[in-house]
Amino acid sequence: MPNILFVCLGNICRSPAAEAYFRHHVRERGLDHSFRIDSAGTGGWHAGEPADARMRSASQARGIQINSQARQIAPSDANADLIVVMDQDNLRDVTELSWVDADRVRCLLEFHPETSRTEVPDPYYDGGEAFDLVLDLVDAATLALLDYLESSGLD
Ligand code: 4NP
Repeated sequence: MPNILFVCLGNICRSPAAEAYFRHHVRERGLDHSFRIDSAGTGGWHAGEPADARMRSASQARGIQINSQARQIAPSDANADLIVVMDQDNLRDVTELSWVDADRVRCLLEFHPETSRTEVPDPYYDGGEAFDLVLDLVDAATLALLDYLESSGLD
């Protein structure tokens, strides 16, 4: 069963959204039991906290709940088949971890079918529109990620 881990800096904005939208798309296809899905942060400052209230309410407005609790990426994540990061800082920080297999790390927006962006921008210090942009990007990219994983076989 593929084990997919979404990673950002704090694990309170972008990667919880990616986790929730990927989960949503997986459920819509009836594939709930086909994946292990989780998220984590490269930093641990927010460990134990729910996702940022602005992120949760922007997502709730689209009918999708974000229920994750923040945690820092840890060596127990070495069993992830794919670590999907949000930006280049995350990519560097994750690939620098001694126990991470760099071949299993991808940037989420590689899968996005349209955008020219390479990073999901960090919305933490920005206003409401930044959270909606994150959700637009994450929604389309996680759907395309699921297409990719389905077409490459789920084992
Ligand atoms: P995230 O956003 O990486 O998308 O969860 C951030 C959350 C917290 C901080 C920065 C980014 N922070 O500096 O505390």
